[in-house]
Parts: sequence; structure tokens; C-alpha cells
Amino acid sequence: MTATDDAALAAGRCPVTGIGAREVSGPKGLPVLGVTPELAKDPLDFTLALQRDHGEVARVDLVPRGYVQLTDPSAIERVLTSNIANYVRGKLYVAFHVFMGRGLLTLDDADWRAHRKVVQPAFTPERVARGVDLALAALDDAFRSWDRAAREGGRIDLVHETMAFSARLLGEVLVSEDLSRPEQRFTRSVASALEVIFKNVSSVEELLLPKWLPTGYQRRKKAARRVFDRIIGRIAARRRARGETGDDVAGLIMESDLPDEALADNLVTMFLAGSETTGLSLMWALYELTRNPAVRREVEEEVDRVLGDAPPTFDRLDELPVTRSVVDETLRLYPSVWQFPRDAVEDDELAGRHVPGGTTVMVSVFGTHRNPRLWDHPNSFDPARFRDPEAQRPRFAYLPFGGGRRQCIGKPLAVAVLVAAVAAVCGRYRFALPYGRESVWPDAFITLFPPGFPADGIPVEVLRRDG
Ligand code: HEM
Repeated sequence: MTATDDAALAAGRCPVTGIGAREVSGPKGLPVLGVTPELAKDPLDFTLALQRDHGEVARVDLVPRGYVQLTDPSAIERVLTSNIANYVRGKLYVAFHVFMGRGLLTLDDADWRAHRKVVQPAFTPERVARGVDLALAALDDAFRSWDRAAREGGRIDLVHETMAFSARLLGEVLVSEDLSRPEQRFTRSVASALEVIFKNVSSVEELLLPKWLPTGYQRRKKAARRVFDRIIGRIAARRRARGETGDDVAGLIMESDLPDEALADNLVTMFLAGSETTGLSLMWALYELTRNPAVRREVEEEVDRVLGDAPPTFDRLDELPVTRSVVDETLRLYPSVWQFPRDAVEDDELAGRHVPGGTTVMVSVFGTHRNPRLWDHPNSFDPARFRDPEAQRPRFAYLPFGGGRRQCIGKPLAVAVLVAAVAAVCGRYRFALPYGRESVWPDAFITLFPPGFPADGIPVEVLRRDG
């Protein structure tokens, strides 16, 4: 920033446009605590109310650290692309270091580039096609117990099933192992680790209580870490003993020049970034299809007509636009990563608002995806909006995988697997929701869960379409 820029900002003008930049406004909140209690009650409702009452660039005063919420696509575009040099991962991302160390998600700049270059080949179309085959094999196994439930009139829990599915997929893709078996304690560890990260930025327990107190939370944190260390240590030792690195993501990292700790840091990063997000997205897609029979029938018609009895392999996915639109719409209404932060290094102007250097800006994916200025009927599940050739939206109105050069590396895999999984399930099953679960508002942690989780999931009756 030049002296002229500084002078412009001091005079309340934007150094780029010369127009007067206004201060960011927000709710008043309580003395000292700010809006912390209100936000804690229902973070998603708070996000939408903040946007409605204070606009698309709005201030949130919190303990210990506030932020500026962004739901304006032009502001988000500036943070993620055109002024990316001014925005670093920042203080809130430090919470992710507990488990992810210095891996792809947490690093900035030159270090990040080196890691991304090593891991990127794991997401070529050939590798993604293999990932879809692994996903279909995992689903085939799950379908055996679903068939039993259908025969015996039993129920399956959609949350449990989809999370076990994604844990298995991630294990196979990253380290060529099935990590979904209960004895691996992997799925539970992923959930505990994400809970710790979430509490790290938001809870009194993590911020104020001493770590040596033997609370259930501290025990879960240590147990999760032990599970990850055990899995990764065993994999690395076995491969070193065999003198081969393997043809998976672990192999790519072991063959690279990255430091030794990059293996654990990046594998844990990808376990945590990829498994719950993908599993929950599938869960929400199946949930919405169960609630919306007309949409479900459209998907069934497409799957029957296009695929018949053939599996939805990678090369067939482009032939399933209706199924794809269901996935797109699910990720709009329930973006698993519902918000993510950056810190501004120097003063900036975002959508006409002055943002001082040092501010944390929070890209609210959830708020942007339900912004009524950008979306008609923003709270309705309407996949057809993604098939409308006339529809025009700003580039960053839709960003379930983030954007710019830090866009999710797993996006091609996640999208392909979700389309294939929705097609495979709809080709064979319908579900019936229990009383009281016909309409739910998600609970927001790092990702979006159905309310009451883990005590309550989404138990459904399973019906085979062929009777
Ligand atoms: C539906 C599923 C998924 C969603 C919604 C999702 C969402 C996101 C978002 C929003 C970001 C950007 C965060 C930021 O810019 O601060 C991100 C980054 C990332 N995701 Fe995903 N993700 C998904 C699946 C996956 C999968 C399957 C993997 C790995 C196999 C993965 C690995 C990563 C990694 C490593 C990053 C950091 C990339 C970088 O900064 O270079 N994600 N994800």
C-alpha cells in the first residue's frame, strides 16, 4: 500500500475507486460479550439475520475475537482472487493446527504451493474415476445390510450410513485401507477432531479450562490424536519395510521432497476435510429427495432411462444432469463447509466498506447461498434452478468448495462420488422418514449436522424400488 493509498483511507476514501468507503456495521450486543450468546444459540439463523439486518458485509462482535461476515459475491471475489495477496489463512485457522499441523489446508503461499503440487495428481480424471469405482464398491457392501432392513421392515440411520461410506472411501483413496470398520475407531475420531477444532475457536472449555483437567472432551481429543498417529504410523512403517510407497495419496507424499511430517499433516488434513463433508452432503441429498417425492421421481426416471441396470461409473456421470442438479442444490442449501475465514493483512475496501488491516473476514457460504438478492426462494429445495440455461448469477454466488487458487482440491472427487452415489441409491431404494424428522434445521459445527446429533440421526425405513 502506498502513501497515497494511506492518505485516501485516512480521508475515508477507497484507494482503488476513490469513493468514500463506509465503516462496517453490526448488531450492538452485550457489553464485553458482544453477540456471543446470540450466535451460540443458532449460528445459522444468526448468519441469515445478520445479513438481513446489517447487509452483506457485516460486523460480528465476539469474545475472544470478532469478524466481518461476507455474503456479497463481489467482496468474496476480492478476498479469494483479485486481492488474494492481502488475505492470509489467519488466526482462526490456527485452531486447525492441533490436528492438521502444517498441511494443505493451513499453509500459506510458497509452502502451500509445494504441498498442493505434490497432492494435485491424486485428483486427475483417471484417479477420480477410480475413486468412483471404490465408492460404488463401498455402496454395494452397504446395500447388503440395507436389503436386509428392507426385507425385515427395519430402519437404517442415514447419518451413520453415509458417514461410514465416506470414511471408507477416504481411507481407500488416501491410504488404500478400509477405515470405516468400527475397530479402527476412525469415524468417531474424525468427529472428535472436528469437535476439538470447532471448540478451539469458540468454546470456554478449550480457551479457559486447563488442558490437564480430565474432562470427557480432553479425553476425546487425546484419543482422536492417538487413532490418527496409529493409523498413519502403521501405514508408513509397513510401506518402508516393503520398500515401496504405494499408488495412492500417501504414496505421492512419501515419494516427494516434502519433509517427513508432511505425510501425517496432509493425510489428517484430507481425512478431516474430506470425509465428514462428503458423507454429510450425501446424507442431506438423500434426506431432501425423501422429502421431495416429485424431485426423487425425476431422478429415478433419469437413472432408469440412462443407466438401466448399469452402474453409474465416472464415464456415465455427464449423462445424468438431473442427478447432478440435485447434488448442486444440496450443496447450496447445506454447504458442509458453511463458512471459512481469512485475515486481512492491510486495510482494504470490500463492497464499499472499509475493512481495517488485521480484521478477520468470514466468507459465509451458507449466507451467500441463501441470500435472497441472489436466489429466488432461497430456502426451497429446487434443483431445476441449476438446469436453467437462462439463470445468471455472479461468479461467487455459489461456492460450496471455496474459490480461487485455494479452491477445495477434493472437489472433482467429491462431486463425482456424490452424483454416482445418489444415482446408485435412487436406482434401487426409497426411504420413509419417521414422524418428527420431516423438516429439520441443521446444527452448525465445523460442518452441518441434523439437529440432536450424535444422539439423534435420521433413521429411515428402507423400501426396495423393485418391491
Ligand atoms: C462435499 C465435500 C466437500 C466440501 C463441501 C468441501 C469444501 C471445501 C472448502 C469450502 C474448502 C476451502 C476452504 C478455504 O478456502 O478456507 C476446501 C478446501 C480443501 N478441501 Fe474440501 N470439501 C469437500 C471434500 C473434500 C475432499 C473429498 C477432500 C480430500 C480428498 C478435501 C480436501 C480439501 C483440502 C486439502 C482443502 C485445502 C485446499 C488448499 O487450500 O489447497 N475436500 N474444501
